[in-house]
Amino acid sequence: MKISKVKFITSSASFEETKRIEPKPEYAFIGRSNVGKSSLINMLTNSSLAKTSSTPGKTQLINHFLVNEKWYLVDLPGYGYAKTSKTKREKFNVFTKKYLTSSITLRCIFLLIDIRIKPQKIDIEFMNWLGKSNLPFIRLYSKIDKLNNEKINHSLEIQNSELLKYWETPPPYILSSSKKKIGGEEVLLKIKDLNNLTL
Ligand code: GTP
Ligand code: MG
Repeated sequence: MKISKVKFITSSASFEETKRIEPKPEYAFIGRSNVGKSSLINMLTNSSLAKTSSTPGKTQLINHFLVNEKWYLVDLPGYGYAKTSKTKREKFNVFTKKYLTSSITLRCIFLLIDIRIKPQKIDIEFMNWLGKSNLPFIRLYSKIDKLNNEKINHSLEIQNSELLKYWETPPPYILSSSKKKIGGEEVLLKIKDLNNLTL
């Protein structure tokens, strides 16, 4: 699938606010702060529309980007950013979770995880919550340019064995690097398949 047009629509501070957006299929990107969500959206759209930063906590609202006038990429705030106040962190958590469970046009969630780090409680808990909430998601391991193949495979093994404690089959995954432009086609293929579904 080719992305011929991409446009930033709006930022929303709550699920209620997203209701003003014209309903179309949505694909959301979530994960810990600084994991590379906004960079991935920019890679997919070959743009710099999503704001990125080396300082965690850059994205603080629900951002909708309209692609080919047909569907949205949704950039979400990161979770688990230690320097945000606890109240602010909980507020993010509540509003993103509310959006994820309430949007009827949300077709898939891409959950980004940094390939370099060992399984984090916060990511596992989030995946388990997505599973319990019956929300379809794909693990998207980011920043694979930082590791060689052997280390990537080792990291995947550790991640999968941790997930097997909770999941009969670990949820599907895609490997990506926004820096080296890896994984974009797989993400777009998945989106194309889901766009064609009539729900
Ligand atoms: P928040 O909005 O704060 O939650 O962060 P985010 O998940 O949107 O991360 P963002 O895309 O802003 O990227 C964070 C940092 O990681 C930036 O310095 C990016 O340049 C860097 N980064 C993102 N993707 C990659 C990648 O694939 N490889 C490498 N090496 N660096 C990356
Ligand atoms: Mg961001």
